[in-house]
Amino acid sequence: MKEAPSKLKLEDLTTSNPAMARCLQLAALAAKSDVPVVLLGETGTGKTLLAHAIHNSSARARRPFIAFNASAISDTLLESQLFGHERGAFTGAQQSLKGKFELAHGGTIFLDEISEMSPLAQVKILRVLEYGEFERLGSERMLKTNARIICASNCSLRERVRLAKFREDLYHRLNGLTLLIPPLRERLEELPALIAAELKAAGLSEGKKITSIHPEAMDRLLRHQWRGNLRELSHTVRTMTLFCNGSVVLPEHVIFSPDLQNDRDSAAVPKAASTLVDNGEERDRDTDLSLDGAIQRHVRSVYAQANHNQRRAAKLLGISRSTLARYLKSLPKSETKQSEK
Ligand SMILES: Nc1ncnc2c1ncn2[C@@H]1O[C@H](COP(=O)(O)OP(=O)(O)OP(=O)(O)O)[C@@H](O)[C@H]1O
Ligand SMILES: [Mg+2]
Repeated sequence: MKEAPSKLKLEDLTTSNPAMARCLQLAALAAKSDVPVVLLGETGTGKTLLAHAIHNSSARARRPFIAFNASAISDTLLESQLFGHERGAFTGAQQSLKGKFELAHGGTIFLDEISEMSPLAQVKILRVLEYGEFERLGSERMLKTNARIICASNCSLRERVRLAKFREDLYHRLNGLTLLIPPLRERLEELPALIAAELKAAGLSEGKKITSIHPEAMDRLLRHQWRGNLRELSHTVRTMTLFCNGSVVLPEHVIFSPDLQNDRDSAAVPKAASTLVDNGEERDRDTDLSLDGAIQRHVRSVYAQANHNQRRAAKLLGISRSTLARYLKSLPKSETKQSEK
């Protein structure tokens, strides 16, 4: 990707998939208006990236884009985060603070993981949406906001309403334009172009010139379920780049994240289908998303499973023993028991 996501515009996003094309057309409509937008899609499909792109392509592009993840904040901090506070408003409020709605005035407020918001957060946000007005904590001065709202959710809001987890009145307020971003496994025709772009970027940052992908390696990539969607793709390509020492990506260089092992051949119901219902558990496990961490965890766990037998572990990992040996050698010695079995 050429531009940092925060600078990306809709015109920078292209697709060869009809469902994604429809989604981008709606995004272009969204950029021309101020209606609230709901972005629905599994984790890693690009909701945050698309929210930025809509903002950057709108008349508000020069004004702030303020992201707020209401699921990650306690109810006690919620109001001061959303609406700000005056000095002395509560114990510890040593300075006045602008809230997200005030900061986003004239721009866009991005409410992420909206389906996970507490009931209190839902009430507070509904009130701002209804009246366009709010007060900082500790102040009676009414402030106005005309921030444009973009929300994201990786589960169906309608379903959350049905389960009485999400207010119906808020749902209707937010539901101006809903964009459903298809999961990567439903837009596999895009894979070769996406991989090529990621490979170019990863190659540049690693100082490697990788020119092609072995057909078997491509086959592995095409057969994968991509539960982590574009985020997983990006991690996988970076792993490939690290392991690849020549100009061609070989099958043994394609290593998938252990938490997301999901070959299409697997008989299990794809977990991704359920992530649109609830993926809280999965997110908890994924808090360390660093690529190095993921590779290390995976290799360590397989190596332990194989009883520290390099030949067996290499087979399980689908890489050659020498590649595994090189990798293990590069790990801190105290943490990985190395064996010549
Ligand atoms: N169309 C795209 N082309 C290339 N890379 C993309 C695209 N969409 C998303 N990505 C990349 O995939 C990763 C995940 O994207 P993003 O954070 O926007 O997903 P998300 O749906 O918001 O995920 P989450 O639900 O976990 O918040 C980012 O690194 C982003 O740059
Ligand atoms: Mg996101």
